[in-house]
Amino acid sequence: MSLFHTLRTVFQNLSDDHFKILRIIERNLKKYEIVPLEVIERESKLDEQSIEKLVRKLNFYKLIWSPKGREKGCLLNYNGLDLLALKNLVKKNIIESIGKPLGVGKEADVYEALSPKGEKLAVKFFRIGRTSFRSYGKKRPTLYSIHSYLYASINAAEKEFEALKILHPRGIDVPEPIARERHIVVTKIFRGVEIPSAQYIKNPVKVLAKILDNVIRSYEAGLVHSDLSVYNILVTPSEDIIIIDWPQWVKKDHPMAKMYLERDLMNLFNYFKRRWNIKIIPRKYQSFLNEVLREIFNTS
Ligand SMILES: Nc1ncnc2c1ncn2[C@@H]1O[C@H](COP(=O)(O)OP(=O)(O)OP(=O)(O)O)[C@@H](O)[C@H]1O
Ligand SMILES: [Mg+2]
Repeated sequence: MSLFHTLRTVFQNLSDDHFKILRIIERNLKKYEIVPLEVIERESKLDEQSIEKLVRKLNFYKLIWSPKGREKGCLLNYNGLDLLALKNLVKKNIIESIGKPLGVGKEADVYEALSPKGEKLAVKFFRIGRTSFRSYGKKRPTLYSIHSYLYASINAAEKEFEALKILHPRGIDVPEPIARERHIVVTKIFRGVEIPSAQYIKNPVKVLAKILDNVIRSYEAGLVHSDLSVYNILVTPSEDIIIIDWPQWVKKDHPMAKMYLERDLMNLFNYFKRRWNIKIIPRKYQSFLNEVLREIFNTS
């Protein structure tokens, strides 16, 4: 059962007290392996019976876990974190509804969404370590790692949003950042597909030149993507591009920055060579590349 199909039902069926409990669990995750019911009782000022009822419903909607056979308590999962974040995004008038998936990957899910003004948005939910979550209950991974995955996702969202906020105002072709809430990054939607899926590219040299131009301007703005591949570049039929997926960027003075930049560029060149037999880099970019690559190899 996907949360997004049932989002409306879940929202309709949860009261403020349910959200209160979710928030108490969330803010205690760093302190407890499993947040004890006594803590929820103390902080919510609700009685034991009401809490049990509220927790039962949260469990029914798979927003939390209440591990059996251990101490009595609760643990938040990605559904619960999604709901807390979405509630705020709705409250802040950033999104009105969630639509179909745009891309479902290993470490993130991206969904289409609508703003209250009817603008189309892309909403990226980070899901770091989600495979460990799935096996929860069967293998019981350490509960500690579950907390740290939730925090890792929040950090990744923060980091990606930071990059977009640096790059977009400088005219670099990245998704336009709208908001960041917990582990979610909201941007404007882009009507393009990943380069390997685009069958309509007529002028690959021009596309490569556009990408290089953006990589260079990002570098000049102080950032190296560090996970650049043709899967993280979207292209439209009119051959406009954006570079997406920035949570692992590093500053250009990072000790590994040059190595990452070289790897990013090599990924690109190898793909363009393989698919279109392009072996020559547009002249305009050669001097920058010569300079940077010379620095990488320390040859002058
Ligand atoms: N702004 C956007 N507009 C339209 N589609 C988008 C946008 N951002 C992301 N997507 C879609 O979602 C997919 C995944 O996005 P992204 O690369 O940011 O996540 P990811 O972390 O790579 O996920 P994975 O775990 O698969 O690597 C993209 O390939 C693209 O199809
Ligand atoms: Mg990606």
